[in-house]
Amino acid sequence: MLKTRTIYEFLAPFYDLDDVMCLGAKQHWRKKIVKELDVEGKLALDLATGTGRTAKILSKKNGRVIGADFSRNMLKIARIRNRGRDNLALIQCNAEHLPFRDETFDVVTCTCGMDTVDDLEGTLSDAVRVLKLGGKIGMMYFTEPEGWLRYLDPIIKKFYEVVWHAGNVDVLSISKKHSLEMIRRYDLLFAEALVMEKCRERDSNARSSDYESDALTN
Ligand SMILES: C[S@@+](CC[C@H](N)C(=O)[O-])C[C@H]1O[C@@H](n2cnc3c(N)ncnc32)[C@H](O)[C@@H]1O
Repeated sequence: MLKTRTIYEFLAPFYDLDDVMCLGAKQHWRKKIVKELDVEGKLALDLATGTGRTAKILSKKNGRVIGADFSRNMLKIARIRNRGRDNLALIQCNAEHLPFRDETFDVVTCTCGMDTVDDLEGTLSDAVRVLKLGGKIGMMYFTEPEGWLRYLDPIIKKFYEVVWHAGNVDVLSISKKHSLEMIRRYDLLFAEALVMEKCRERDSNARSSDYESDALTN
């Protein structure tokens, strides 16, 4: 089986076609997530930045942004997209082992990334590590749909598995192991968007019920 990185090195020139196929829906949700994150003037990390679309939205908010990805070819496109943006740096690294100190960033984003990484648990754990206490993380990824949409899921899932090497993930249950408190959750039918805050220590008893229904917004 090809490695995820090798796949994205090859996919890079075609990747932005997916935004066209989604008729702007992905871009709409990237903007919505950034808006929820209150990022103005802050230091943000965009994980699995790919062609740098979310990093660009973040960089318009007058803070400093680092976009990180392990694919050189995806980063090349991100560099072209973000030419002249002095407050944005793009670096090549593995999201599972980030080269940053603990509690460095005010904000972390990962759009359409948690569903492509090989080690979801390790990636989320490192994202939380580099996030400051009280900092926010915004994510968007594929999930198992509910209701009758479940019948369509195998087709959509197969398409994204084959074309973009992305699969359904359950970030929400992994988030429960970390000190993350839900701020907002959007059900996007075949995907989900979450905005969460890093708190000192999650009181698992007090908050476990909150977690299930917390802030679910359609
Ligand atoms: C589906 S693209 C998402 C790109 C972008 N965030 C967006 O909103 O369109 C997934 C990206 O994750 C990157 N990626 C996957 N696993 C990674 C890892 N372990 N470390 C760094 N980047 C990774 C891929 O190289 C690819 O650019």
